[in-house]
Amino acid sequence: MKKRVTKAIFPVAGLGTRFLPATKSIPKEIMTLVDRPLIQYAIDEAREAGIKEFIFVTAKGKGALEDYFDAAPELEKALRKKNKTDLLQELKATDMDSGAIAYIRQREALGLGHAVWCARRLIGNEPFAVILPDDVISAEKSCLLQMVQQYEETRGNIVAAMEVSNEQVSSYGIIDPAEDMGQIVAVRDMAEKPAPAEAPSNLAVIGRYILEPSVLKRLSTLKRGSGDEIQLTDAIAAEAREEGNVFGYRFDGQRYDCGSKIGYLKATIAFGLARDDLKEELADFLDGAIARRRAAE
Ligand code: UTP
Repeated sequence: MKKRVTKAIFPVAGLGTRFLPATKSIPKEIMTLVDRPLIQYAIDEAREAGIKEFIFVTAKGKGALEDYFDAAPELEKALRKKNKTDLLQELKATDMDSGAIAYIRQREALGLGHAVWCARRLIGNEPFAVILPDDVISAEKSCLLQMVQQYEETRGNIVAAMEVSNEQVSSYGIIDPAEDMGQIVAVRDMAEKPAPAEAPSNLAVIGRYILEPSVLKRLSTLKRGSGDEIQLTDAIAAEAREEGNVFGYRFDGQRYDCGSKIGYLKATIAFGLARDDLKEELADFLDGAIARRRAAE
């Protein structure tokens, strides 16, 4: 029987240096878009895709993240007493069944590839998803669900892909396409953060992956690559070169890079404008701020 994707790894052990000093004490994944932390969007997306086991790769200083998914009986009692049923409903999103969530420690921030490898024993011999919670994707159908459906057709390793500008290629893993079939691209090779002149295309890999367990074996043997880190891109690129079983998937949806300040601000505005209770006042404020900026120029 073909194995289904039911496990997802959430690597959240990075240092989050782009958000210092905030990330000195707050994990990046707990920062909110309006009133929900980034991790909540990632969990909701995974649930929509049928994920049943949620594996967090964490590190020192990420306690707030673990607390977020704990039961809160006192808070619930207080809300019930005040008849705040809508807020109780909001809290439900943070419910996790006993045993559905696991925390694995990455002792040292040796890179995304190393973080994924840390979860190898919990994955075993199954295909699995990787979600980077600082990439927030708003889409009609969850990005991961789109990818799971693609996986059920093609199998292999599937990476979420999107076009970026020449100036941006050096911030991403970039696909060297063997064959472009539109929504899906067969991958010949990948380059991690190439200089614009050396980039094989403008098709960047962003933070959603469905991977075969063979990638974990490759990670075990990898040496440190770009940035002196163990790169997930290097393991997937080796699969592409040697097995020819890697596909880029052009997802439908809008992605926000919430690991960067500008991406986070854009997402905050977009998610605020999408909220019925906030959109009018926020839009008026933005109109006014833009008009004042234009008048001052
Ligand atoms: P980033 O490249 O965004 O790094 O990691 P970072 O440390 O989170 O943030 P900056 O660049 O210092 O601001 C991409 C993803 O990989 C995880 C991060 O938590 C993030 O989800 N990661 C990265 C790990 O879990 N471990 C690592 O050693 C590195």
